[in-house]
Amino acid sequence: MKAGGPDGIPVEELDEAQARDELARLASAIDEADRAYHTEDAPRISDAAYDALKARNAAIEARFPDLKRPDSPSKRIGGVVAEGFAKVAHARRMLSLANAFEAGEVAEFVAGIRRFLGLPAEAALAFTAEPKIDGLSLSLRYEAGRLVQAATRGDGAVGENVTANARTISDIPDRIENAPTLLEVRGEVYMHHDDFAALNARQAERGGRTFANPRNAAAGSLRQLDSAITRSRPLRFFAYGWGALSEPLAATQMVAVERLAGFGFPTNPLMQRCESLEAMLACWAAIEQRRATLGYDIDGVVYKLDDLALQERLGMRSTTPRWALAHKFPAETAWTRLEAIDIQVGRTGALSPVARLGPVTVGGVVVANATLHNEDYIAGRDSRGAPIRDGKDIRAGDWVKIYRAGDVIPKVADVDLGRRPSGAEPYAFPEACPECGSPAIREPGDSVRRCTGGLICPAQAVERLKHFVSRAAFDIEGLGAKQVEAFWHDGWITEPADIFTLQSRYGSGLQQLKNREGWGEKSAANLFAAIEERRRIPLQRLIFALGIRHVGEAAAGLLARQYGTWDAFEAAMTRAEPGSAEWEELLGINGVGEVMATSLTAAFANDAERALIDRLIAQLDVEPAVQAAGDSPVAGKTVVFTGTLEKMTRAEAKARAEALGARVAGSVSAKTDLLVAGPGAGSKAKKAAELGIETIDEDGWLELVGGG
Ligand code: IVH
Repeated sequence: MKAGGPDGIPVEELDEAQARDELARLASAIDEADRAYHTEDAPRISDAAYDALKARNAAIEARFPDLKRPDSPSKRIGGVVAEGFAKVAHARRMLSLANAFEAGEVAEFVAGIRRFLGLPAEAALAFTAEPKIDGLSLSLRYEAGRLVQAATRGDGAVGENVTANARTISDIPDRIENAPTLLEVRGEVYMHHDDFAALNARQAERGGRTFANPRNAAAGSLRQLDSAITRSRPLRFFAYGWGALSEPLAATQMVAVERLAGFGFPTNPLMQRCESLEAMLACWAAIEQRRATLGYDIDGVVYKLDDLALQERLGMRSTTPRWALAHKFPAETAWTRLEAIDIQVGRTGALSPVARLGPVTVGGVVVANATLHNEDYIAGRDSRGAPIRDGKDIRAGDWVKIYRAGDVIPKVADVDLGRRPSGAEPYAFPEACPECGSPAIREPGDSVRRCTGGLICPAQAVERLKHFVSRAAFDIEGLGAKQVEAFWHDGWITEPADIFTLQSRYGSGLQQLKNREGWGEKSAANLFAAIEERRRIPLQRLIFALGIRHVGEAAAGLLARQYGTWDAFEAAMTRAEPGSAEWEELLGINGVGEVMATSLTAAFANDAERALIDRLIAQLDVEPAVQAAGDSPVAGKTVVFTGTLEKMTRAEAKARAEALGARVAGSVSAKTDLLVAGPGAGSKAKKAAELGIETIDEDGWLELVGGG
């Protein structure tokens, strides 16, 4: 390798000028590799070569801390800048949207809203329809008419402060007039096709980075630490919504957006009000027809219930509003050869078949892998045995049609039997785990075959560890998927608890860790400090990190809020079995069903699992969950609804109570704080009376929570 490469001048021999040059070279090489890997799905260098670049960068930074670049690769996790922007908590969460791909799903969306609100089928219900812009969302906070803060969406609750950059976008006014004293305007930052092409041409000329598509270019341009760079990029903005407000903007979505336009924000000219399902679908078709000539990327149509009071009543699920829907356009497709079918074993033992493909561009991104879901999918049938793709199976060597819908993983849509090589054999799905050899079993009714090796299966163990350190779980800086895998291979970390004893076992004088490839004194010390910092962990993150099947991030949040402390959670999971009060309480949580409850209790009842959890807990200091915030009179209380409700449906009552921070249970127990009883209330009302629990009627409830 040439001098200056990872095998070039040894780090100890670099002088300051050489080190500066070398850091610049490494930053751009790592940046390019990150982009190829994360953004284009087309790695250009091996993992080992990538690690060597990162290690050399870290070693030079450790020797010349003052030369560390503002865009240093050591600050980046994957393709994303992890540090550099201050974090901003959104005053109101930034939501995402539920997706639909077919007209039937749109009909169900409208019908579901009617059901939730208890409206008859003939009641008029108007929706707005507007393009779904393929950019990145931004929240702009105006106080007394001045732009005071701009934040990216982040995880919806906390975003990044990009105020200085947003000020450089000419579509975004610095001052607005006759607006509410507090107004958060939300919308999408995006780039026009011709601006994108010109930017890429300019970048290529200068030897800078080019972008895979306009959305990446917009994101990369907005998230620049140097706002002079953002200023030089042709970004645009469409306003389509709002967050916190000091006073309502209007009574309908349509008029509210017109007001935003009146304040000087660009709003989408194709937005329309539709008074029927047919009108919504017609609007979708009309927007799709114009898609190719708009000059910017859109990937669907967003429908929003027009009446804002009804939006309020509908509220939201954990991350998406019930009153809006994204109706996506059909995905882009491309044909390529399927080279091989590999099996990956996930953290819950699921055997997932992956298609290795001849690289092909689909929707502006190079794709080399696609999911094949499960064995039925490969065989050409769905979970009920009905044919899919007209029953055509998928074999190695086949020509397959690939599609990408939105940001999701590429999938195989079709097979060209005319091009099937002679001698191609049907794929035989393995019945033993390719990683540990244990039998791989398919339970009746399950579409997935699973390795039965449990904790002895190396793939499951590694995947569980990767999950454990992932961003929504322990998120330990310096200990990502790659590092944890390397430690696991060398036997340094075999289960989560080992992470917290790493220093006592291998950190003495830092010598052993320092001797590992890619670790220097500073990075080793940083790692131990980061691990120490995570010993104290919020309950919600801990529950998610355990990686129990069916328990995702949202469910972990619900469980944490319900039980408050680890001790209460653990005791309940240990005692909960069908029929017990603990089981009822668990199922009483909105969002927890039998499948999740069974999975949770099974994990705590399994001796090996339980021992692993206990060893982990012994290392931690678990932070109790913050009880649902708010000053509502029912925050933190357990409420039961019974009898007939006349002014709202049961679903609405429950959703509203939960939005106000209450827990809604299905049965009355000593833990119940309030019973809301409508006409016809029977045994629950009686039991509440016996237990001396406060009981009110529907009007009393509406008075209490300020509705009606
Ligand atoms: S409404 C509840 N309207 O799509 C409101 N979103 O998949 C959520 N987006 O994060 C947003 N065009 O970044 C809305 N006309 C539009 C949109 C739009 C693009 C983005 C937005 C959001 C994502 C959700």
